[in-house]
Amino acid sequence: MAKRTTIPQIMRLKGQRPIVSLTAYTASLANLLDEHVDFLLVGDSMGMVIYGMPNTLSVTVEMMIAHGAAVVRGSKKACVIVDMPFGSYQASPAQAFENAARIMSETGCAGIKLEGGQEMAETIAFLVERGVPVLAHVGLLPQHANRVGGFLTQRDEEKILADAHAVADAGAFATVIECTEPEISRRISEEIAIPTIGIGAGSDCDGQILVTEDMIGQGTGYVPSFVKRYAQVHEDITKAVQNYANDVRNRDFPSK
Ligand code: KIV
Ligand code: NA
Repeated sequence: MAKRTTIPQIMRLKGQRPIVSLTAYTASLANLLDEHVDFLLVGDSMGMVIYGMPNTLSVTVEMMIAHGAAVVRGSKKACVIVDMPFGSYQASPAQAFENAARIMSETGCAGIKLEGGQEMAETIAFLVERGVPVLAHVGLLPQHANRVGGFLTQRDEEKILADAHAVADAGAFATVIECTEPEISRRISEEIAIPTIGIGAGSDCDGQILVTEDMIGQGTGYVPSFVKRYAQVHEDITKAVQNYANDVRNRDFPSK
């Protein structure tokens, strides 16, 4: 069995070649993506993408564990990182550790991701010192959508820069940068030693991530304008289902 990509291997890719990442919530999709990505993120975007929630705030630790375990079972090679959902880490470093340890031990994932910059630095250091690898997430923070009034591009360059430095100094192994001006993520990628993984943050990050359903055209909800569509899965499934329904109604399936 091929060995899984490790977090130190991902860190060493900075400056070598771009890091490739996609989201996965299920064993079947994880299996399809496994050969092609450096790491799979079990994102709390699952609340919106596969549970039809209006935002990510109602996703629970139990949901992350169920889907995280499925993604680990469905993959062999990729490093698997699982998002910590809203309310599972913000109260204190101790709360974050308890939930992170549960997520890691019950899924077999390599590490967790949490949202936030300077305000989460103490928590990130607490986790990392105790054996929990942390992928940070700065810029647009979907778990803050109610506070800032939606999913909006973040333009406060000095704050985002300070957040990125804070999570790097706290020991995060890499950081997601979501929806910033390309100039900001370029500066961050130059200034911090850990890999930056961009989503809607321009081409100068050390790696890229997208929500898989968005890039394969399976998303039913809003798809951000920075997403490139590499397939038309929604249209393909629609045609398949129409053909099946017609065949059954016309008694063409099953065949005699
Ligand atoms: O939940 C998610 O899918 C994410 C990524 C898009 C970065 O946080
Ligand atoms: Na997320």
